[in-house]
Amino acid sequence: MNDIVLEARGIVKRYGHVTAVAGADFDLRAGEILAVIGDNGAGKSSLIKVLSGDVVPDAGEVLLDGKQVHFKSPHDAQLAGIETVYQDLAMAPALDIATNLFLGRELRRKGPLGSVLRMLDVKEMRAQSRKQMDALGITTLQSITQPVDSLSGGQRQTVAVARAAAFGRRVVIMDEPTAALGVRESKGVLDLIRRIRDTGIPVVLISHDMPAVFEVADRIHIHRLGRRATVVRPGDHEMNEVVGIMTGALPPPAMVAEAS
Ligand SMILES: Nc1ncnc2c1ncn2[C@@H]1O[C@H](COP(=O)(O)OP(=O)(O)O)[C@@H](O)[C@H]1O
Ligand SMILES: [Mg+2]
Repeated sequence: MNDIVLEARGIVKRYGHVTAVAGADFDLRAGEILAVIGDNGAGKSSLIKVLSGDVVPDAGEVLLDGKQVHFKSPHDAQLAGIETVYQDLAMAPALDIATNLFLGRELRRKGPLGSVLRMLDVKEMRAQSRKQMDALGITTLQSITQPVDSLSGGQRQTVAVARAAAFGRRVVIMDEPTAALGVRESKGVLDLIRRIRDTGIPVVLISHDMPAVFEVADRIHIHRLGRRATVVRPGDHEMNEVVGIMTGALPPPAMVAEAS
């Protein structure tokens, strides 16, 4: 059985009178791509924000590698090795790819040039960016010195995913990464998600795109009315069955703990 890397128990998050997350459980296992699906308003993003430190829950606990964590900000989660790609990409369009990869985590020159004059080590950042792109097999970006605003939507998404993969030492989370992309661009991002998993970092993929979910997910967490309804394997169910469970038309089958 695969180890649980990231876990949540009994998460509750209220916004005024709205209970966005109503006692949700969650677990992500080593080596897997876990898709999280559910109707609009089911509380997927709110749950994921708890895991990524963006939201502090009203109740419940989060465990990383079996130890309880108390994230107060996304920065806390990042320090713990959890990187999140949000739908609204935080990028600096006028800056180049390498600079965007290191945005907020810039490498400084060694010695007083870096520590006193705060000079950036552009050469090192470019070298590491190239290495990262090669490691992920990204061939759609011609030059890492290209400004991000010259890139297509898919290429920008690729940069965001590469950034998450570069810094996500334990977990990479993606909220609807292919929502704004064309078919070919989506395929590129899905390939990238598989490669991240294959480097040993489990991935949480929140998506409405059922064919994509069935293509890449090892397990599918079905979220309904603020809670985890169940977890299924894509190979065990037809797509319309899973949609039926998601909408409440079909009763949720027993949860599966392992990908296969
Ligand atoms: N910042 C917020 N303020 C108020 N209500 C919110 C906020 N974020 C989410 N909600 C509400 O919480 C519920 C769950 O939303 P969300 O987590 O975004 O669901 P999903 O991602 O599954 O569509 C919805 O009813 C939504 O309107
Ligand atoms: Mg959402």
